This record gives sequence, structure tokens and C-alpha cells, in this order.
Amino acid sequence: MDNAKLILEGKEFQLPVKVGTEGEVGIDISTLRSKTGAITLDSGYGNTGSCESTITFIDGEKGILQYRGYPIEELALKSSFTEVSYLLIFGHLPKKEELEKFNYDLTHHSLLREDMKKFYEGYPPTAHPMGVLCSMVVSLSAYYPDSPDELYRNIIRLLAKLKTIAAFSYKKSIGQPYIYPRNDLSFTGDLLHMMFAVPSEEYKVSKTVEDALDLLLILHADHEQNCSTSTVRMVGSSEANLFATIAAGICALWGKLHGGANQHVIEMLEMIQKDGGDYRKYVERAKDKNSEFRLMGFGHRVYKNFDPRATILKKTADTVLDELGIHDPLLDIAKNLEKVALEDSYFIERKLYPNVDFYSGIIYRAMGIPTEMFTVMFALGRLPGWIAQWKEMRDDPNMRIYRPRQIYTGCTKRSYTPVEER
Ligand code: CMC
Repeated sequence: MDNAKLILEGKEFQLPVKVGTEGEVGIDISTLRSKTGAITLDSGYGNTGSCESTITFIDGEKGILQYRGYPIEELALKSSFTEVSYLLIFGHLPKKEELEKFNYDLTHHSLLREDMKKFYEGYPPTAHPMGVLCSMVVSLSAYYPDSPDELYRNIIRLLAKLKTIAAFSYKKSIGQPYIYPRNDLSFTGDLLHMMFAVPSEEYKVSKTVEDALDLLLILHADHEQNCSTSTVRMVGSSEANLFATIAAGICALWGKLHGGANQHVIEMLEMIQKDGGDYRKYVERAKDKNSEFRLMGFGHRVYKNFDPRATILKKTADTVLDELGIHDPLLDIAKNLEKVALEDSYFIERKLYPNVDFYSGIIYRAMGIPTEMFTVMFALGRLPGWIAQWKEMRDDPNMRIYRPRQIYTGCTKRSYTPVEER
């Protein structure tokens, strides 16, 4: 493709164009400032490609999501979360022996250092589990050195221990004893066991719940340069250690416009239910520019047609609730809300569709996972994506520290006045 031409103050500049393997076009502005003295301005980075990446492809217009070229629908149907994690981090689907070793390593690194249990004692039971998750992850850096020789083991440690950290923070919040990881269970089976088993009773992991959780984790595993992943790349670009870098991603995910939306969807549906179930009123409120209310779980920066993850989850919500024999009135409200919104010109014109968070919470609820833990589940799912993106950046010989610029719009130079004279 030809270079792009830029005319600035009457002078013409040539800018190279980079075309991705799926045909995406990017104007390479890396020499813009040195050539022209100007920078670009793109609030919210909606038009900015911050990196080249071989990990995840999204076509928001067509509702396509692929990890390393594999469509999400196929992975959701045929793969497992640990296999998808391997695919994202190491770039290929593992051979049988590679997957066996990976799964073995993941089970044999899931214990937390006993000292770390003391950290939990310092938190009030009301502490949000995302805050606990983040501080526990950064605390891992106190135990495990950051060196190139330890890279594989630190990746395994993070993947294996995050579920133990998550389950312990849940147990702490409900005042129950911690349940230690078990090596005979699957990744998701072990997580469920650590969350729901109690020492006095036998707990059998439900296959329906285990499979549904595995699927949810697969669907969340990566989503290219979203807010938390960009945070991971930003923090990692300073060469902060892996644990600190991932902890920063967890903080970014917590916000209600990003991963925190799943918790807020359920809180919104509960609010509608308590208010008599009049979902139309809330659709009207979401459209009202004088109200701050938004339909949580609706809209996406990239998807402008449908979110393929939401399509899978809508069906899964029906199947899981059916298999578990649960009738959740919130699912009825969600479906009605979706139907009304999708027929409304406000949502049609703005291309606002249900996103991954719209139905995930209903499934987590059916599994018995409390609302405050939803974003923690998202973090567990997103972890391999964060690691893959961090590793890709670290392996890039041209990696530079992330350092955007700005257009300054504050006061021009002025003299300091002493306090008595102001
Ligand atoms: N309800 C009502 N109006 C909305 C909504 C919504 N959920 N989302 C966007 N809009 C309107 C918005 O007011 C704006 O209208 P106008 O053009 O008249 O000013 C227009 O749609 C474009 O919205 P935007 O805020 O400029 O879009 P964005 O790309 O900056 O934000 C978003 C994307 C996901 C933050 C936003 O759609 C939103 O706040 N959604 C609700 C929160 C949510 O569900 N977040 C989870 C995202 S998916 C999980 C993840 O990967 O993070």
C-alpha cells in the first residue's frame, strides 16, 4: 500500500503504512514528531495502535475474535482454559506432552507460601476481593526473584497461585477456613473446591459448573489492547517485575467501565427487580443525557455489531441454569432489557450491544459465586492474556518505555507571587 501523505502548514510529508495480516491499516507515525515537530492527539486512544501483536485479532464490525488465529467459537467448544493459556503465552497449540507438562506444573505450583496467609489476617472481612487480589499478587514479588532464568517458573507460579489467592480471599470474606489446593483436580475444579469445600463436609465439584467456569475463563482470556492490557504493557515497559506489572493490570480491570461491569450488571438487575421489574424505565433512564445511569454490560469500544463472547454466554446462561434446575428472575429481566434496548433507536444508532459482562454474572450467580467475586473471575481468565502481551513486549528487541506525549493547554509562563500578595 502507498505511503500516507500529510500536509501540515503547506508542507507535504510521507508516512509509511503498515497493513496487518487481517488487512487492518495503520499509518506509522513513529517519525512524525522528528519530521514535522507535531504529535497526534487521540483522547482515549480510539484510533491509536500502541503496538504490533500476533496474539489476538478482533474485527469489531463483524463480531470476530480470534486467539492466535483460532476463532473463539471453536476454542470455546473444543479447548480448555489451560490449553488456551498455553496457546496465548507460547504461540501454538501444545502437543500432548507439552500440555501434560504445563498442567502438571500448574498443579504443582498452586500452594501459597504459608507466610502469605498472615497477610489475609490484616484485611477486614468487608475488603473487596479485587483489592486483596492485587496486593497479594504484588506481594509474590517478595518471594520470587525476577530474573530471566526464572521467567517460565514465574509465569507458572502466577497462573497457578492466582486461583489459590482468589479462593483464599473469598474464604476470608466469609470467615471460613482456607481450603488448600488439590493436585488431583482440574484447574477449574480445584478453584471451585477451594472456594466451596468446607472441612466438615465432602464437596463434589459439579461437572456442569466446572465446564461452564472453564468456558467463561476461555472467553475472558485475551482481548488485545484493552484498558488493563495496555496498563500491563505500560507498566511492564518500565521493566517493573512481572508480579508488579500484573497487579497494575488487576487494578485497571477493577473499574466499572471495564471488568468491574460484571458486578455492576447484577447490581443493576437487582435494582430493577426491587423497583418492580420495570426494565423499560431503565432503558429510558440510560438514554437520558441528564442522568448518569448507563445500561451496564452494554456497549463496547471495539464491537459495533455484536460481541461474540456475549452470544456464546447468552446460550450458556440458558443451558447452565437449566442443568442446575435454577430459575433466576434476573435472567428474565436481562433478556427483556436486551430485547427492548436492541429495538430502540438510541441503542441502534450508537451500535450498543450486550457485551461479555451482560450474561457472565447470571452464570456466576447460578454457580454460587458471590457478586463481589465476579471481577476476580474475570482477572483469573484474563491473566494468560496479560502474561502473553507482557512477554511479547519483553521479547521485542525494539521495545521502548511507553511514554505518550500531550498537548499542553494550561497557563503560559508566569511569575510566582508570594502568598501575601495574592
Ligand atoms: N448505556 C447507555 N448509553 C451508552 C452506553 C450504555 N451502556 N454505552 C455507551 N453509551 C452511549 C454514550 O453515552 C455515547 O452517547 P453520545 O454519542 O450521545 O454521547 C455513545 O453511546 C458512545 O459511548 P462512549 O462512552 O463514547 O463509548 P466508549 O467506547 O468510550 O465506551 C464503554 C465504551 C464500554 C466504556 C461504554 O459503552 C460503557 O460505559 N458501557 C457500560 C459499561 C460496560 O458494560 N463495560 C464493560 C465493557 S466489556 C468488558 C471489557 O472488556 O471491559
